[in-house]
Amino acid sequence: MCCHTNRHRSRMKRCGFYIHRLRHRLFLFLVSLVAVCLLELLYLKVTVWESNSGDPHDITDWLSGIHSHTYDVNCTAIYELDPVEIGRALELRQKALVAVDDEDIVSLTSNCTTFIKTRCYDRFQISEAERSFPLAYSLVVHKNAPMVERILHAIYAPHNIYCIHYDQKSFRPFIEAMKNLAYCLPNVFISSTLESVKYAHISRLNADLNCLSDLLRSEVRWKYVINLCGQDFPLKSNYELVRELRQLNGRNMLESIRPNELKKQRFSFHHKLKYVSHDYHRIPVRTPIAKDAPPHGLVMFSGSAYFVLSWEFVNYISSNKVVKDFLAWSADTYSPDEHFWATLVRMPGVPGHIPRSEPDVTDIKSKTRLVKWIYFEGHFYPPCTGTHIRSVCIYGVAELRWLLNNDHWFANKFDPKVDPILISCLEEKLMEQRHFA
Ligand SMILES: *[C@@H]1O[C@H](CO)[C@@H](O)[C@H](O)[C@H]1NC(C)=O
Ligand SMILES: *[C@@H]1O[C@H](CO)[C@@H](O)[C@H](O)[C@H]1NC(C)=O
Repeated sequence: MCCHTNRHRSRMKRCGFYIHRLRHRLFLFLVSLVAVCLLELLYLKVTVWESNSGDPHDITDWLSGIHSHTYDVNCTAIYELDPVEIGRALELRQKALVAVDDEDIVSLTSNCTTFIKTRCYDRFQISEAERSFPLAYSLVVHKNAPMVERILHAIYAPHNIYCIHYDQKSFRPFIEAMKNLAYCLPNVFISSTLESVKYAHISRLNADLNCLSDLLRSEVRWKYVINLCGQDFPLKSNYELVRELRQLNGRNMLESIRPNELKKQRFSFHHKLKYVSHDYHRIPVRTPIAKDAPPHGLVMFSGSAYFVLSWEFVNYISSNKVVKDFLAWSADTYSPDEHFWATLVRMPGVPGHIPRSEPDVTDIKSKTRLVKWIYFEGHFYPPCTGTHIRSVCIYGVAELRWLLNNDHWFANKFDPKVDPILISCLEEKLMEQRHFA
């Protein structure tokens, strides 16, 4: 599940239901918003005037100022684990929370020339090795346009191709921001079919499938496709990523493990969409009705919603009868995206297939997504320095080095409301790793 990497019991809650939360926190939210805005304006006034010594400023200057995400910290020192600088950053991040919202991105992108210049989309240079190895992305997002733009910026290369799938339920300014991004950048488009994505439901899988089928029809003959959600961020530049993907030699990279008894229940019983507790949204709930075995003798594997798939693989499954039947069979399972890809990559005959006899590809072995679980902190990895949501760490600035030195290609979760400085430093470090011709 995008943004829902937690596969444990607390899965009943989900991101996206911010309306519900907002109602309860509206008052608090408004009060803090006013406070943050005042602080922010004060801070911006000072920094803008300091840096530009009295030039006139319009809304664009203001937006580019807040959207360039540079803070008065030394990211190199943070990367080198300088305790003083990390301490400073941890202190600063409280004050650095930037109240950029979807409307700001709508304004920023309403004039494409200005947007592209402000955010330097016309200045990305790529190497020959990258040019001959285009990548495709499926971005399944539903909120936080500023973050989506930053992700896009971090993974952007002019010869790649990007599909954005926004949710039918998304708020209007968010949708407008996404449409503007697609309008301004020639290699970014909106998925031709849009789902109303429900948690743990086949609609989440369909959102990616919609993008994949559009991407297959694109004139860009991409080599690999990667799916991301609005809380992911890359840990490699396009240059580094291409170098690693070339070494895959056509294999796919994704988690694929043998399901335990608990996981098996997800596809052994018929599930039905139901309202649970006080939520306004429906999620698949298990019924006592047992399901038939998967079609065509498919052997089930479990994994995650995240993948790095070759063009050949996607092309193969797009017209395959077994896959079509399997998708139909999966419709009433729980969180089908977490077994669909994991099972198909083990199917004999698929391009880049992983034989069923081969050992589990765990989330550690698969480089697709780095997720920090609260259960393993202090054992497998250092503690989270941001905060937790449903047992998953939202990273903080002291994890910069750990994130970058990990072998993984992307990580989840990031939130500018938790630690904007970490994201800013990641952006800076990735920029250093880009290829400059
Ligand atoms: C940032 O920190 C690094 C490492 O500590 C140091 O070499 C560099 O000079 C610092 N940069 C600035 C601008 O202070
Ligand atoms: C966009 O902004 C530029 C520079 O400010 C301006 O010259 C141009 O006319 C604007 N374009 C549109 C379509 O408003």
